[in-house]
Amino acid sequence: MASVRELIDKLEKNRHLDREEWQEVLTGYTEDDRRYAADKARAVSLGIYGNKVFIRGIVEFSNICKNDCYYCGIRRSNSEAQRYRLTADEILECCEEGYGLGFRTFVLQSGEDRGFSTQLLCETVRRIKAEYPDCAVTLSVGELETDEYRALRAAGADRYLLRHETADKAHYGKLHPVEMSWDNRMRCLGDLKKLGYQTGAGIMVGSPYQTAECIAEDMLFFERFRPEMIGIGPFLPHKDTPFRDREKGSYELTLFLLSLCRLLLPNVLLPATTALGTIRPDGREQGILSGANVIMPNLSPEAVRRKYMLYDNKVGTDTEAKKSVDEIRKRMAAIGYEVVVTRGDYNDKACDIR
Ligand code: 5AD
Repeated sequence: MASVRELIDKLEKNRHLDREEWQEVLTGYTEDDRRYAADKARAVSLGIYGNKVFIRGIVEFSNICKNDCYYCGIRRSNSEAQRYRLTADEILECCEEGYGLGFRTFVLQSGEDRGFSTQLLCETVRRIKAEYPDCAVTLSVGELETDEYRALRAAGADRYLLRHETADKAHYGKLHPVEMSWDNRMRCLGDLKKLGYQTGAGIMVGSPYQTAECIAEDMLFFERFRPEMIGIGPFLPHKDTPFRDREKGSYELTLFLLSLCRLLLPNVLLPATTALGTIRPDGREQGILSGANVIMPNLSPEAVRRKYMLYDNKVGTDTEAKKSVDEIRKRMAAIGYEVVVTRGDYNDKACDIR
């Protein structure tokens, strides 16, 4: 059997490993192997995107959710969560502030809130696109019907984030109540791709019951599906969920997986996630140095920010948008990277901003 290093080299060269090879990498890696992969991934990222970091402003416009995912702090059964829903006008105010701060992508994220209709969301997207024609709109509002995805795309939405959570159907069943279906999640992801969204999939690292087999399956899924974006962060327990007493995910494995994703899909848009910045104070910097190229600061109004808690101790919830962007610019400068004011689209050739 090849060593982990040889397999990392092979991944870089062929952009493919088979299931057994992924297993070997995921079960046999050392801290040295992780650093080796990070150095390679960083070089690949520098070659394609240069030392540029894209920022996306997230507007968490509703924490009302019809779902009951066992891991998530805004699950329906969490009666401790104080629920809120912004109006379209409030969302536009967030965008106005964000535009001034240099954001050219707005991510509208929410729980699966049936009270914020797809029609209203379409109108909101149209208003944002009319007001800011130079900006991209990303949606992250969960599972919808095909026609709803089509309507939102027609309204001008450019991108969509929907983590698949796990490519292993049995594992999916252990993270979600029976009424949620892995098949429907996959249907959604397929729809999004077909409709021409730049599509994001992703996982939590170290979610309960996750095994190396599950992650190997996720890597095979990424290779097959070719998402334009991949969201990967550590699982972090939330005190008012059934998984409150579970172990948090591994910081090092999260960094390692970011690097492996960069090597597998060199052009992928890869955020250093808020969860990574929560598990370690310099998590996002280390994410960028491991091959990530996107950071997604919070633009939600301060009055609601503490209420959008998917996990405990989320970073950035006490900081106003301006301060957190300034801080991110500084932190990126300190590691030799520059936050840029562009839409930062996926580019399957190379990037035009270098
Ligand atoms: N820890 C880490 N990530 C979480 N998410 C939800 N709950 C948690 C948690 N406790 C992630 C899920 C979801 C995304 C919006 O946030 O992967 O898709």
